[in-house]
Amino acid sequence: MLTETAYLIGGLYGNLEALDAIEALADWEAARFKIRPVLVFNGDFHWFDAEPTWFGEVQRRVLPHQPCLGNVELELADPQPGAGCGCAYPSSVPKETVSRSDAIMERLQHMVAHQGIDLAGLRGLPKQARLQCGNLRIGVVHGDPTSVSGWGLELAAMPPPGKSAEVLRAWFEDANVDIIASSHTCRCFAQDFPGGRAVFNNGAAGMPNFLGDHRIVITRVSVHPPHPLPESEALYSRRFGNVTVSAVALHWDHSAFLTRFDRVWPHGTAAADSYRSRIVRGPPHTLNEAHRLGSNPESTQRY
Ligand SMILES: [Fe+2]
Repeated sequence: MLTETAYLIGGLYGNLEALDAIEALADWEAARFKIRPVLVFNGDFHWFDAEPTWFGEVQRRVLPHQPCLGNVELELADPQPGAGCGCAYPSSVPKETVSRSDAIMERLQHMVAHQGIDLAGLRGLPKQARLQCGNLRIGVVHGDPTSVSGWGLELAAMPPPGKSAEVLRAWFEDANVDIIASSHTCRCFAQDFPGGRAVFNNGAAGMPNFLGDHRIVITRVSVHPPHPLPESEALYSRRFGNVTVSAVALHWDHSAFLTRFDRVWPHGTAAADSYRSRIVRGPPHTLNEAHRLGSNPESTQRY
């Protein structure tokens, strides 16, 4: 797909208030630049929406765009025995966290089965997408290029800034892309590599991404620089020729979402135990840790 501007929106997690903010930014860009950004939802757009009306609204507002499967949608549309949430957590994740994620998935699957929810719109969705913006080629995945639930593009898997790794080189070459955009790990970062390549992981488009900061983060790819965008901030950006790739943080209606979340996931439920603290306070992650751009001299201008 050829585009002037694309938003890569991984991990919306059913957050309709975050989606309001993303749509408002897209509306502003459509009015300003006379062309509407393409919205690519690279997986896990469902998760907290374990209530039929809420789930239905996510379906109605996401599916007309460019959705890709995340492990959540994959396990809803095609449950695999023993897969649980399909997150394929690394062994470092506490087993209580894994159990709670499995419980959230069971509740979603139960709702779908007993409320007659039609999942036809999820079946057949692609696992990956490919975009071209200017001369920049972007591969979009949920986990990593080998698996929807892969952890190969988590921050901890990256080589030191300025270095590359054989597996990354192979992924860029096999896909014939300059940028790989992912999500899944819930921890945002961007890092560039020799040869004008970069990985952008947007963390979560439906939850706070930094300690003490409620903003959601999406990856924006555009021939239009990210300044100024209303109610948002380009946290870190990189220019590749005439195309800028940015991690854009957006303000959203946090208190309205928290009210919605608490109604469906009250104290003591799996999602409340696993996520409410992050939603209220943000995760133990900093902008300094996320910003790993600028170490390769052949990359062009840094904002
Ligand atoms: Fe995921």
